[in-house]
This record gives sequence, C-alpha cells and structure tokens, in this order.
Amino acid sequence: MMPRAALSILLLAGMILPIVTAAAPEAIHLPCSRTCGTGMPAKQNLTYPFGFSPGCPIQLNCTEDGDALIGDFLVQSMSPDTVAIAIKAKCDRPFGSIDHLYGRNYAPTAMNSVLLNNCAQTSPCDLPNTQVIQAQFQSLCEPSNKTHTNTSMSCYAEQANNYSTMFLNHTRLFALDCKHFLSSISLVEQNNVSASLGVQLLRLEWWVNGNECECSQDADCVQLSGLPNGGGNGFRCKCRDGFLGDGFLAGTGCRTGSPKRKKEETLKVLTIVLPLMVLFIVSILIMGVVSVIRRKRKFSEVLEDWEREYGPHRFKYKDLYIATKGFRDQELLGAGGFGRVYRGILPTSNIEIAVKKVSHESRQGMREFVAEIISIGRLRHRNLVSLLGYCRRKGELLLVYDYMSNGSLDRYLYNQPRATLNWMQRFRVIKGVASGLLYLHEGWEQVVIHRDIKASNILLDAEFNGRLGDFGLARLHDHGTDPQTTRVAGTVGYLAPEHTRTGKVTRSTDVFAFGAFLLEVACGRRPIEHGDTEDVILVDWVFSCWDRGDILEASDLTLGTESVEEEMELVLKLGLMCSHPDPLMRPTMRQVLQYLEGDLPMPELLSSGISSSRLTFVYSEGLDDLAVSCPSSKGKAFTDLSSVAESLLSGGR
Ligand SMILES: *[C@@H]1O[C@H](CO)[C@@H](O)[C@H](O)[C@H]1NC(C)=O
Ligand SMILES: *[C@@H]1O[C@H](CO)[C@@H](O)[C@H](O)[C@H]1NC(C)=O
Ligand SMILES: *[C@@H]1O[C@H](CO)[C@@H](O)[C@H](O)[C@H]1NC(C)=O
Ligand SMILES: *[C@@H]1O[C@H](CO)[C@@H](O)[C@H](O)[C@H]1NC(C)=O
Ligand SMILES: *[C@@H]1O[C@H](CO)[C@@H](O)[C@H](O)[C@H]1NC(C)=O
Ligand SMILES: *[C@@H]1O[C@H](CO)[C@@H](O)[C@H](O)[C@H]1NC(C)=O
Ligand SMILES: *[C@@H]1O[C@H](CO)[C@@H](O)[C@H](O)[C@H]1NC(C)=O
Repeated sequence: MMPRAALSILLLAGMILPIVTAAAPEAIHLPCSRTCGTGMPAKQNLTYPFGFSPGCPIQLNCTEDGDALIGDFLVQSMSPDTVAIAIKAKCDRPFGSIDHLYGRNYAPTAMNSVLLNNCAQTSPCDLPNTQVIQAQFQSLCEPSNKTHTNTSMSCYAEQANNYSTMFLNHTRLFALDCKHFLSSISLVEQNNVSASLGVQLLRLEWWVNGNECECSQDADCVQLSGLPNGGGNGFRCKCRDGFLGDGFLAGTGCRTGSPKRKKEETLKVLTIVLPLMVLFIVSILIMGVVSVIRRKRKFSEVLEDWEREYGPHRFKYKDLYIATKGFRDQELLGAGGFGRVYRGILPTSNIEIAVKKVSHESRQGMREFVAEIISIGRLRHRNLVSLLGYCRRKGELLLVYDYMSNGSLDRYLYNQPRATLNWMQRFRVIKGVASGLLYLHEGWEQVVIHRDIKASNILLDAEFNGRLGDFGLARLHDHGTDPQTTRVAGTVGYLAPEHTRTGKVTRSTDVFAFGAFLLEVACGRRPIEHGDTEDVILVDWVFSCWDRGDILEASDLTLGTESVEEEMELVLKLGLMCSHPDPLMRPTMRQVLQYLEGDLPMPELLSSGISSSRLTFVYSEGLDDLAVSCPSSKGKAFTDLSSVAESLLSGGR
C-alpha cells in the first residue's frame, strides 16, 4: 500500500523536477558563416562578428585548411576585444604588408612593438626587456658580408610605457619609411615588476562600425570613437559574467548556461530537489517504520519462558488473524460465556478451525491454566472436540479447535430458526456425549471435570456425532480470584446444588449437568424457561409428569411418533436420576453409559429425594417467580417452590 502522503510528495517532486531542469533558450543562427569556402570549418574559435562569408561584419580570408587569415598573416586566437596575429620573423617581408593590419574593423594596438629593417628614420623603441629579443632578430637578418649591405634593424612603438593611445599610429609608423617588416613583439601582460611578451605576435583591436550599440541585453557595450579607419565610431559587445555568447544582437547574443552558471543552476536544483527527495525518503522510511510497528503491535503476542515446552501447541497470532480474516463478524460462529468463537482456515495447511477468543484479566494462574488446557488438549476421543493449540496475547487467550461443521446442539433443540434432528440422531448424540464424558472422568490418568456440560457446548461434526467442547474452560474463572469469594462457574440450570454451596466440582457435578442435558435433548426445552408470569424449571416439570405417571408427556412434541418410547423413557428417567440433589444418589458416567447401551437395566426411580427444589440454590433471587407445571395440568398444578425448598432443607439433608 502506498500511503497518500508519500504519493503526493512523489507527485510534487515529479512536477517540480522538469520545471527546474528545463532552461536555455535556442541559439539564433545568422547568415555569417564561419566555414571556409572549401567546406572546412574555422580552426580558430571564431565568433561573430568574424567569419568568412560576406554577411559577416569582419570578413576574413582563409586557407584551404580552414585557417583564418588577415592579409598573409595567420590568425592565432581571439578575445572579446583583440585578435592575435602570428608574425613569423622574416627578414625580407615588404614593409607595406603592415598595411593589411589596418582594416575597416581592426588595427594594431599600442601594446605592440614592430620590428623593422632598413628604415629611413629611426624611432625610440624601448619596450621593456625587448633588447635581448631584438638582438636575436638582428643576428637573424645579419648578412654574412657586412660591408656589402647596409643592414640596420629598428623598432617602432608608441612612446615608451605610455599607452594612453590605443593604436599604433599608422601615420608615424609609415613615416619611418622602412624596407622590411621583420616581426613583432606584443606586450601580453604587464605589471610593475615584469611584463610577459608575445614574441612574433601582434595584437589587433577589433570593433564593429556603427554609432549605436547593437548588443544583447545581457552584454556590456564598449563604444569607440576616432578609430584608425578614418576616425569613425564603433562598438564591441561582451557578455556579462555568467553568460555565454558573442553578445551581439545579430550574433548569438548572450545565453545563460556558462559552466559557472550551470553549476549554480545545478546547485539551485539540488537545493530544491534534494530536500524534497530527502523528505520523500524520510517520510517513506517513517511510514515503513510506523507500519512495521503497527503490524508488530497488531500481531503481538505474550510468550513466556514456561511456554516453550508447549511450542507445538502454540499458534502464531498472525496466522490466526489471517485464518479468521481479521476476526471478522462474518466469521463469527457464536458468542458464549467464555468468549466469541470464530471460524477460520489456517493459511498454510487449509485446515478448518474454530478459534475461541477468551478474555482474561489477570496473568495470575495463567501458567497452570495453560498447562491444564494443553494437557487436556492432548486427550483424543471421538466425542471430544480436539484442541489444536492456543495463543496468548495481552488480556486474551485464543484456543484453536477443530472446526465442527454442524455447529452446536442447542441450535437443533430450541433455538430459532430450528433445524431438525430426529430421535435416532439425538440418541446417538446422547450416547456419544456420555462416552466422551466417561473418558474424561475415567479414561485418563487424571480425572478431568468438564464443568460446563450443556447443549450449547455439544458440537456436531459432519456425521452428526456429538462432541464435547470447552472442557476445563470453566476453570479459567476460578483462577486469579479470591478463594474466599470463589465464584461458581457454569450455567444456571446445570449447576448441582452442592456445587453452588461449596464451589467444589466433582464428577457428580458433571453428572448432574449431564442429567439436565439429557432432559434438554429429550424435551427440546431449556433447563429453565423464562415465561411471562413464571419460569419453568425443566427438571421439576419432567418430575411432575413422572410423578403423575406419564413421563412421556414431557417428550419433545416435534419428534412426533418417530421416537422410540423405551429410549425416550430411559433418557427422561436417566435425566431425573442424574439430577438427583444428593450427589451420592446420582449414577456414575460408567453406569449412565451402561444404561444407555442397555447393558444394565435402569433401577426403578424413587420419588423420594428427587424434587424441584434443588434449583433454589442456584436461583435464589428469583425464588418467588419459580413455578413448575406439566403440560397436561394446563398450568393449574403449580408447585409452590418455597414449600418444596422447605421440605428439602428439612428432610433432604
Ligand atoms: C577553441 O576553444 C576551445 C575551448 O574554448 C579550446 O580548447 C581550443 O584550444 C580553442 N582552439 C583554438 C584554435 O583557439
Ligand atoms: C582577402 O583577400 C582579398 C583578395 O586577395 C583582399 O582584397 C582582402 O583585403 C583580403 N582580406 C583580408 C582580411 O586579408
Ligand atoms: C665582402 O665584399 C667585399 C667587396 O664586395 C669583398 O671584397 C669581400 O671579399 C667580401 N667578403 C666575404 C667574406 O664574402
Ligand atoms: C647605409 O647606411 C648609411 C647610414 O646609416 C647611409 O648613409 C648609406 O647611404 C647606406 N648605404 C646603402 C647602400 O644603403
Ligand atoms: C603620454 O602621451 C601623451 C600624448 O601622447 C602625453 O600627453 C602624456 O604626458 C604622456 N604621458 C607620459 C607618462 O609620458
Ligand atoms: C598620428 O601622428 C600624427 C603626427 O604625429 C598626428 O598628427 C595624428 O594625430 C596621430 N594620429 C592619432 C590617431 O593619434
Ligand atoms: C605598481 O606601481 C604602483 C604605482 O606606480 C604601486 O602603487 C603598486 O603597488 C605597484 N605594484 C606592484 C605589484 O609593485
């Protein structure tokens, strides 16, 4: 999942990046070619206004190789205000060739010293440090026979160290009337201490004729007047710092994107984009961490050292969460006294499971409880719902059971909408549950008391076999509570009278509950039914029917004639027998199973002792409202419970 904030940051970055990177206007091309007629591009870095075509303000000649020429002289390099010309030392170069250097748009600057031979006049030429150089040039042209020729070298420069004039004065230079133009020395750079000289070099200053500057808005304009070409006006353009180009309107103008500017721009881009990127990455990281933490918290469990030995029985909360689709309400199978039960499918094995979420407040006694649950979970019987394992979270215990596809029995007895379960199926369920309970009571090294036998805890598998679920769970309520205020756990109507008094559970208390369950199945009614005027206690009602000599009156009417009378009678009588208030009078589960299987004949039911009053211990608050009636008595033969209770308290014990 891509968090919305991250998405918007990404979009923002995506919008800004192209804006920042897009720049630089297109260069304007003009009809001033810098390609020589032979098709060779200029070797020198010529820029506008220089070029080889007539469209260029300063038109130069070129060699076949693409070298730019001024007169016979090779153009060496260019700068925004000067052109450097190579003047190779040549003893017999005609003096007049200097004239080529005075053009319409250029002239030698005052920074040059021109070396001449055989001049009619001499002129002072004290360019600093040029004496040595002059001597070398002199020896170059010295004829072997001195007497024959009259060779003398001279030099022309503007007044020594006074460069207030810009150009070599053409008039004065030609006034020397020399024979040969030997070479030139150009002052490249000068300061107080030293001067660097360009030997065999001559610098021309250039300009474009015109009275008005025609420069790009990002260029500085140098205006010149009284130029050597006849005293005209001219100008030069030079792009300001940070701009690139020739600076002329007619040329390429000035554009941003010099290396320096580019650097600044990338810097700018970085200062905008980098924080965004960092923000983006950081927010992604934060969201990642948050989601990891949330996930961890969501799936957090409680695992203590003592639980290591239960490793195989321990489930991962995450797996249970996925199995039950996040404990969705749609997966809810039911909600009982111990918690909600969810259906699920284990992610890896595809096994159908039922997950019971039991909330527990205290961790006290948890260890014993888990130990017990696990040990009970090891019990395997076809009439017990298998406990597959458990998981513990803070304040929550999750028990994982086999999934019983047909749900709990109570659904088939009286819950609406009512599903049908015929007598044969019911009787089989009863026998199955009895056998499961016998296994708990006697089939194992240790007596296990179920504590909460009732129709809603009997689950039906795919073949409608009754299976006992939730065994031992009632014990959870015992733990962590004050022993002095021992709470009785179980369900009203199934609690044996001695259990409610002492809080002690025994096999007999289970048998009592089983009795209530038998009547429940046979009659299709709840142990206690809350009526509009009074509540009906099932045991007492069945008892009253039996007392009147027609116990079958109590049987579930919806069963019709399909029920086998003997079995029905057996179940009803056994139900009453198990519900005896005196635990000693109740049969054991082994006996119960023998009666059900027909291996032992049922002993005759004695009326003494069996009465309705036992429930008063459970239901003491609502005592006045309790009443019993047999359907045949049509609501008239009510037994006053308080009197029954009295008789029991005086005689029963
Ligand atoms: C032309 O300019 C480039 C870079 O500006 C330089 O490397 C190259 O040497 C120059 N060529 C000439 C002939 O001046
Ligand atoms: C180019 O050559 C032509 C003809 O030789 C000449 O008239 C012109 O002055 C030359 N231009 C330059 C700049 O040397
Ligand atoms: C130089 O020229 C003179 C006169 O023409 C001649 O006598 C002399 O031999 C020449 N010297 C050399 C070294 O050629
Ligand atoms: C040689 O130079 C001197 C002055 O330096 C001059 O008088 C003489 O006429 C010159 N001779 C020739 C042949 O040019
Ligand atoms: C430089 O020359 C100008 C005239 O050409 C003159 O007025 C000025 O005094 C000279 N300056 C120096 C320092 O010689
Ligand atoms: C060049 O020199 C001559 C004579 O000395 C002078 O009249 C003229 O004004 C000078 N030209 C320039 C441009 O300085
Ligand atoms: C150059 O000379 C000027 C004065 O003529 C002086 O102020 C300056 O400090 C000198 N520079 C150096 C590098 O000597």
